[in-house]
Amino acid sequence: MKTMTIVLIDDQPFFLLFMEEMIKKIDFPIPIETKSFRNAEDALDFIEENHVDMIISDYVMPEMNGIELLQEVRQLPDKESVIFIMVTAEHARNIKRKALALGATDFLTKPLDKLEFIPKVRNLLRLRLKECLLKNKAQLLKYEIDRSLKEIKMRDREIILRLSMAAEFRDEMTGHHIERVALYSQLIAKNLGYSDAFCEDIYLAAPLHDIGKIAIPDCILKKKGKLTPEEMEIMKKHTIYGYRLLANSKVKVLEMAARIALYHHENWDGSGYPYGLKGKAIPVEARIVSVADVFDALGEARPYKKGWNIQSVFKFIKENAGKKFDPQIVKVFLSVKDEILKIKERLTPDGKASHSLFNDYIDFKPPPIAT
Ligand SMILES: [Fe+2]
Ligand SMILES: [Fe+2]
Repeated sequence: MKTMTIVLIDDQPFFLLFMEEMIKKIDFPIPIETKSFRNAEDALDFIEENHVDMIISDYVMPEMNGIELLQEVRQLPDKESVIFIMVTAEHARNIKRKALALGATDFLTKPLDKLEFIPKVRNLLRLRLKECLLKNKAQLLKYEIDRSLKEIKMRDREIILRLSMAAEFRDEMTGHHIERVALYSQLIAKNLGYSDAFCEDIYLAAPLHDIGKIAIPDCILKKKGKLTPEEMEIMKKHTIYGYRLLANSKVKVLEMAARIALYHHENWDGSGYPYGLKGKAIPVEARIVSVADVFDALGEARPYKKGWNIQSVFKFIKENAGKKFDPQIVKVFLSVKDEILKIKERLTPDGKASHSLFNDYIDFKPPPIAT
């Protein structure tokens, strides 16, 4: 706050001059500027467009009077707390009452007395200054809080992305699998009508769906060829391990990630694992990731299988609506086929992603070893 601005309104130039002179005599920590008007209409235009701290207006004026001006000013946005001093005749009790009811701050009496004018204007300006400083402080505080929240969010995001990379390193043949699953899941959630916050959460949580695989022995996880029934049972436990790793968090997105890790192999018809849950008993985020994950995994070559062609993958997803997958989610997934294919094209297993949030971390090159 560099200056205080006072608007003076009186149809008689003599009073305007008198007030300007009195204001010059006020001892104040920051400069005071005055703006004088001979009619309320022009003053109102100025007040509407500019920052104003105080208005000193005569009551009796030929067109718009002081009360009408006060009413107009109080309706302007951000002008409800501007100091408004009404100048009236000494015995105008009714006018004073009305002005007070409409939000006048104080009164001065004509003829103006400098011994009343100077201290009153100075005291009210001080109050105004304090109020403005407090407001600035509150704004500064809000800015600081917003910035800290943003930082916390970014930190959470980075930790989650790095954790999901750990799972990807372990299951090294998956290329951009986790990132594609994240993007497909986000796209499905958006087209199902979920909020931006939910879509952002599922984008971050989906990559952690197989985090439990870090607890699966290499001889099973990296086996070339079909797993035996016993090995398969161990492999299935990645859902439980993932949940144990992520559950009971106070961070909302990790709670979601825990549910996805636990339920992403459950099937709509109850034939999945680990619990054989059916239909909507399976959390929706897990039902979404399940479609995204299977779609992506089938199209990809793994140590134990070749990748399917894309038409067969879409056919499989369609045929499994109501069996493996939530039919509503399959419907939405197929309706955004083109966008799905665009993501797939951009994030090919060997290709370098043209747009990847993960790239910030993946492309990091360690410093050379000193010799
Ligand atoms: Fe899985
Ligand atoms: Fe997966």
